[in-house]
Amino acid sequence: MEIERPSYLKAKRRTKEEVKVITDSYIMNNKLSKIGLGKTYFIVTYGCQANVRDSETIAAILEDMSFKPIDSMEKADLILLNTCAIRENAHNKVFGMLGRIKHLRETNPNIITAIGGCMTQEVSVVDELEKKEKWVDVVFGTHNIQNLPKLISDAIDKKEQIVEVYSREGEIIENLPVKRSNKYKAFVNIMYGCDKFCTYCIVPYTRGKQRSRRVEDIMKEVNELINSGYKEVTLVGQNVNAYGKDLNESIDFGSLLELVAKTNIERVRFVTSHPWDFSDKMIDVIAKYDNVMPYIHLPLQSGSNKILKLMGRRYTKDSYLELFNNIKSKVKNASITTDIIVGFPGETEEDFEETLDVVRKCKYDGAYTFIYSPRENTPAASMKDDTPLKVKEERLSRLNEEVNKYYKENNEKLLGKTVPVLIEGDSDKNKNLCAGYTDTMKLVNVKCPKSCIGKIINVKITDAKTWSLDGEIDE
Ligand code: 5AD
Ligand code: SF4
Repeated sequence: MEIERPSYLKAKRRTKEEVKVITDSYIMNNKLSKIGLGKTYFIVTYGCQANVRDSETIAAILEDMSFKPIDSMEKADLILLNTCAIRENAHNKVFGMLGRIKHLRETNPNIITAIGGCMTQEVSVVDELEKKEKWVDVVFGTHNIQNLPKLISDAIDKKEQIVEVYSREGEIIENLPVKRSNKYKAFVNIMYGCDKFCTYCIVPYTRGKQRSRRVEDIMKEVNELINSGYKEVTLVGQNVNAYGKDLNESIDFGSLLELVAKTNIERVRFVTSHPWDFSDKMIDVIAKYDNVMPYIHLPLQSGSNKILKLMGRRYTKDSYLELFNNIKSKVKNASITTDIIVGFPGETEEDFEETLDVVRKCKYDGAYTFIYSPRENTPAASMKDDTPLKVKEERLSRLNEEVNKYYKENNEKLLGKTVPVLIEGDSDKNKNLCAGYTDTMKLVNVKCPKSCIGKIINVKITDAKTWSLDGEIDE
């Protein structure tokens, strides 16, 4: 049965219409609340913090329907994939996972399968699911999460695939339930969507227009978290610096960050920042409040002015470096990480050298590096791209070598120093140790009593590796 399918034409529309804040679209009634009785669910989440936070809402919705969580996909009665569309390899992973679920259904045909997230906003993906994977029960989009109970119920009743993917500018839906996956740190959405339309990026099509949440709704969520004992909040948006530009009130990200800092929660973080809207006021607030963590993710994408222009990034190599240096000079101990794409259409060896030059100047604390992946319907996908994959791979490995060198060097600077760490739980590498993150977002495996879990403690760094640090409690 077809209800509503995605459309690229609708997905890229941006009108001046005011964003609606909806508080009553989530319907849970007696019938829906019993659908999962005696059944279990398992969610697989791909991609960014926005998806992680969406999965926390999805988990709560499934639990409102009486499904219980289970820690293994093989044993689950309902499997839900919350997908990412940012690069092609995410697509391959998801269809690989569908293959595994199809196999599980051979022994248990009653498994309910649902797929949502950014990938199902892609027209070709929904086509493929409808034509080749008709057994998938529910296909839902990023704007349809609140309707999940009804979609799952319809799929069970009608015994057919239910597709509901709105391609809309989107609303702001408040009052959705949430089941937090961490007891000490939490993600708080401050905005949805993106209006930047960088030419390589699919997000403005999959997540709709930029919609900032109202300050009072954000502060309510933050205060509830503080009252429940949370130590850290991360304010999440595709481009948090643009917060408030779409609201009638005169509020910007600097003021919002200050309001959150003034609650005295122990730690405030934010992701992601676009260099474009990074104001001096933001830098001043980060510098002024000790509870705003000195950690900034500042995607560079490329160091070449020619490529930045083709990407539609609206800054130059020099203006990026100026911003970077400004942050470093004003924010004590600032740790800055970045995202870089290599092999964008038209990137020459000289362009790539410009990127390496920025990396050498910025000596980043970390970098996520990617080979450009053409995304359906984006402007860059139709740009002439004559660089062979082998050359792109070679650039990626040269870039990684460079960024890893600085990663390690920056970690080594902490040797012997004492840094604050929020201890989150057991270390993955050794259950006798604990693990947590520094104020600057570095992972530390710590020798300390288990009673430290959930606390921010001082840790003396005893060893520095490329990806993590070792340390012990400094009493
Ligand atoms: N190809 C490769 N990397 C991409 N990113 C976004 N779109 C693409 C694409 N089409 C990267 C950018 C962004 C990060 C989240 O993913 O570096 O900052
Ligand atoms: Fe994509 Fe650019 Fe928006 Fe980031 S700012 S989500 S890269 S369009």
